[in-house]
Amino acid sequence: MGRLAVVSGGGTGIGRAVAAALAAEGSEVVVVGRRPEPLAAVAAGLPGVRAVTADLTDPAQVARAAKEIGGPVDVLVNNAGGNFAPAPPEPGDLETLRAQWLANVTGNVLPVVLLTEALLPVLSRPGGRIVTITSVAAFRGPATYGGSKAALHPWSAELAARLAPEGVTVNVVAPGYIPETEFYGERMNAEFHAGRSAQSPSGRGGTPAEVAATVAHLASPLAGFLTGQIIQINGGAIPGRG
Ligand SMILES: NC(=O)c1ccc[n+]([C@@H]2O[C@H](COP(=O)([O-])OP(=O)(O)OC[C@H]3O[C@@H](n4cnc5c(N)ncnc54)[C@H](OP(=O)(O)O)[C@@H]3O)[C@@H](O)[C@H]2O)c1
Repeated sequence: MGRLAVVSGGGTGIGRAVAAALAAEGSEVVVVGRRPEPLAAVAAGLPGVRAVTADLTDPAQVARAAKEIGGPVDVLVNNAGGNFAPAPPEPGDLETLRAQWLANVTGNVLPVVLLTEALLPVLSRPGGRIVTITSVAAFRGPATYGGSKAALHPWSAELAARLAPEGVTVNVVAPGYIPETEFYGERMNAEFHAGRSAQSPSGRGGTPAEVAATVAHLASPLAGFLTGQIIQINGGAIPGRG
């Protein structure tokens, strides 16, 4: 068996494609998520993949998951997240506004920082790779989701500087519209899809496999000099910055 990779949110969407890409390269892959069913389906369908069930916003569950994962961990892909407050509150509704900020910071920041902290002691040095999935939303909103993803950019930059002397790279992948995921839930329909596709000059959404290919490169041994970066994958929706 090759390297050990951990993919949070690996049961669906982008995470599932990342798990498939890393498994295809011969890595042992641990997929982590809250629902056992999608994780079990991925583990059953891909060689060398096993499932660990945990809500990564909960420190006790993260600590237990880290024990089940074991180590040394060569690759950590922080992919779990979502938009936990997709519709803005009514103007002036401070209680809902507060709840929405807390929901998105909890749902997007905590799974990344807690799982990373829990696995840092067993991360391979040198050679460890940390890749965190944020979003085009981190550059342009919507507010609470984009704000929670944007918080991960300085976190990742600081960690990259801290771990570079130990031969560990830390990068961010910020995807644009990726329709073949569970991300959009009931909001997805033909009109929504057409509108989102038109936001990119490419005129389409990306595929989970297209995001996974970049993650796999960042996770590869040859990407050792590529650290502290934010790679955008959005069909040109936002020209390079960040
Ligand atoms: N799809 C897009 O257009 C798009 C664009 C930019 C960025 N992103 C980001 O890409 C990442 C992957 O999302 P996706 O598009 O592939 O959507 P998805 O299919 O909904 O995948 C999200 C995954 O994260 C897991 N997850 C969420 N909260 C979790 C928690 N607290 N603990 C453990 N697992 C958790 C979910 O599994 P459980 O529900 O079973 O826990 C699910 O497998 C997310 O961070 C998302 O914000 C997506």
